[in-house]
Amino acid sequence: MVEVLRFEAATVVRGGRPILDRLDWVVADHERWVVLGPNGAGKTTLLQLAGALLHPTSGRVEVLGERLGAVDVFDLRPRIGLASAALAERIPAEEQVRDVVVTAAWAVTGRWREQYDGTDEARADAVLAMVGAESLATRHFGTLSEGERKRVQIARALMTDPELLLLDEPAAGLDLGAREDLVTRLAAIAADRWAPAQVLVTHHVEEIPSDFTHVLLLRDGRAVTAGPIGEVLTGRNLSEAFGTRLRAGHIRGRYWARAVPPSQELRGRHARRAAAALPPQPAPGPDDPLGEA
Ligand SMILES: Nc1ncnc2c1ncn2[C@@H]1O[C@H](COP(=O)(O)OP(=O)(O)OP(=O)(O)O)[C@@H](O)[C@H]1O
Ligand SMILES: [Mg+2]
Repeated sequence: MVEVLRFEAATVVRGGRPILDRLDWVVADHERWVVLGPNGAGKTTLLQLAGALLHPTSGRVEVLGERLGAVDVFDLRPRIGLASAALAERIPAEEQVRDVVVTAAWAVTGRWREQYDGTDEARADAVLAMVGAESLATRHFGTLSEGERKRVQIARALMTDPELLLLDEPAAGLDLGAREDLVTRLAAIAADRWAPAQVLVTHHVEEIPSDFTHVLLLRDGRAVTAGPIGEVLTGRNLSEAFGTRLRAGHIRGRYWARAVPPSQELRGRHARRAAAALPPQPAPGPDDPLGEA
């Protein structure tokens, strides 16, 4: 197993408080991780560490085998593909889509005097095709719809053939059709055994592409739990992370979660009392809820 990320007691302090708090986390190169947690849980901070955009205040973070603080991050960053709202904001509106993608080769936004050869341009077209955005190559980034922009950002993240792909809320703001299209494309990338290790931050379990393998649940900068998706993505764990009673389940590799209505909470209490007097029930099938809160 080759580790692409290793966090040991990683802590980031801002405004006098830990926004990431002694986090231990290891990601191997064949794994695809989802990071879930409420607003302010520290998800974007975690991706900034993983993307070598930030150093921990204390603790140890290794990215692609290099320890942050002991490596030139400018050597490290081209090995990492990152798509985030913060990066998208830095892309000039008049930039041509192919240039938005090709400039990732230099880890810059905004084409200026760098020289790109035909191989770079061909690679940019190939990754645009991978996300279904080949027809947008000559458009200006500022004229794209939200969904089209997201696809172009992912193409940019893939441009350098990275060893680690980091996606911060790639489906945020997309309509249902655009979200499903994106999730399907991300699932295809996740299923590709030659694709890089992936870490995807989202607020919605419906946005988890099938073939993602692991989940980290964050709350207040701490890991509520982490591990294989089938074990960790339960209503009980989501309830703890989000501080509200939730149920969760999956249908053919896609997940759902919803609040437990108050009436069912009451019924649940009665049912639990009654169940205590009954013999054990059969285990749930693959399409059944993963577990009640
Ligand atoms: N420079 C800073 N100074 C003070 N607090 C900060 C700073 N940067 C981030 N924070 C706080 O750290 C916490 C974690 O922020 P982060 O952006 O990592 O959360 P998140 O999980 O990505 O949230 P969201 O789901 O809303 O995107 C938030 O409470 C945020 O306000
Ligand atoms: Mg965030």
